[in-house]
Amino acid sequence: MNFTTTVMMILVFFLLCSGIFQFTFASNLRIFNHPSEDKNWNEARRECNEKNGSLVTLYDDEDATFMRKYVTKSSSGFVSSVWLGLTKTRTNVTTWSNGAPFIFSRSSVNLPDREQICEAMDKNTWKGFTCSGKHYFMCYKGDTRIRVINRTATWEEALDYCEENYISLLWIKDVNDQEAVKQWLEVSGYTGTFWIGLRQSIMFGFWIWKDSPVLESNWKDDKAPEMPFSNQCGVINATDNKWSDENCFNKHPFICAEKILKY
Ligand SMILES: *[C@@H]1O[C@H](CO)[C@@H](O)[C@H](O)[C@H]1NC(C)=O
Ligand SMILES: *[C@@H]1O[C@H](CO)[C@@H](O)[C@H](O)[C@H]1NC(C)=O
Ligand SMILES: *[C@@H]1O[C@H](CO)[C@@H](O)[C@H](O)[C@H]1NC(C)=O
Ligand SMILES: *[C@@H]1O[C@H](CO)[C@@H](O)[C@H](O)[C@H]1NC(C)=O
Repeated sequence: MNFTTTVMMILVFFLLCSGIFQFTFASNLRIFNHPSEDKNWNEARRECNEKNGSLVTLYDDEDATFMRKYVTKSSSGFVSSVWLGLTKTRTNVTTWSNGAPFIFSRSSVNLPDREQICEAMDKNTWKGFTCSGKHYFMCYKGDTRIRVINRTATWEEALDYCEENYISLLWIKDVNDQEAVKQWLEVSGYTGTFWIGLRQSIMFGFWIWKDSPVLESNWKDDKAPEMPFSNQCGVINATDNKWSDENCFNKHPFICAEKILKY
């Protein structure tokens, strides 16, 4: 451990003890697992719950688009349909298995009128099947999702926007989060660089997630930009997911973190 690292760790420790860092991230980014088996709806749901996850819940059109792309992409041969955590009862009540409200208008999805059905994403559309039929399924974990805001702002403007509308600019605290971000950006097909919550402490020189230390990093060239040559804000490259420093006053599209309901 070299001198700079030691000093930094002491500082981080000091700041942690003094309560300057408030941990916003007891939460995890949502990540979907790849469909690998077919089961009936109830078995699929049980299996997801046993893994502390939940059958796929879609919160808006962007989620629906993601799932459609994911299924189309992975359906190279064997996966033709994937269960959604969605059921419709004979009283026409449509419910997500994790209790999230169903907000889709009938125009954006095609829910057939049948009794007691379970829904699956079938190629490009949503379809009702008997719940005892077997289909592939995906589970997800995590209570925070990625929101790409595809218009440009300075880092501060982006932070304000995310804090006003969601939780904050995106943070990536561990390998699981890195995988979640990669999955979302890859499937959604974004390219270019996006602001994330990375900022360099001008006083101490180390990088932080707004108010928490960076523990697991993914810098371009595997090296955190150092003062005095560094810029003080961080972007992620949507193609290779590497981070780099940028002048905070440059304008970039950005990525927010949004709280979602857990099952
Ligand atoms: C699920 O959560 C429980 C309680 O937190 C934990 O004991 C268990 O190991 C977790 N299971 C998996 C598969 O992660
Ligand atoms: C459910 O929806 C169908 C089709 O819109 C309708 O014909 C039926 O009466 C509805 N059932 C109930 C219980 O509301
Ligand atoms: C993001 O915005 C740019 C510029 O307006 C546009 O060219 C691009 O298609 C958008 N990307 C997505 C994935 O919507
Ligand atoms: C993002 O990464 C890709 C692949 O490594 C690279 O070709 C591209 O130039 C990078 N974009 C920016 C803006 O750095």
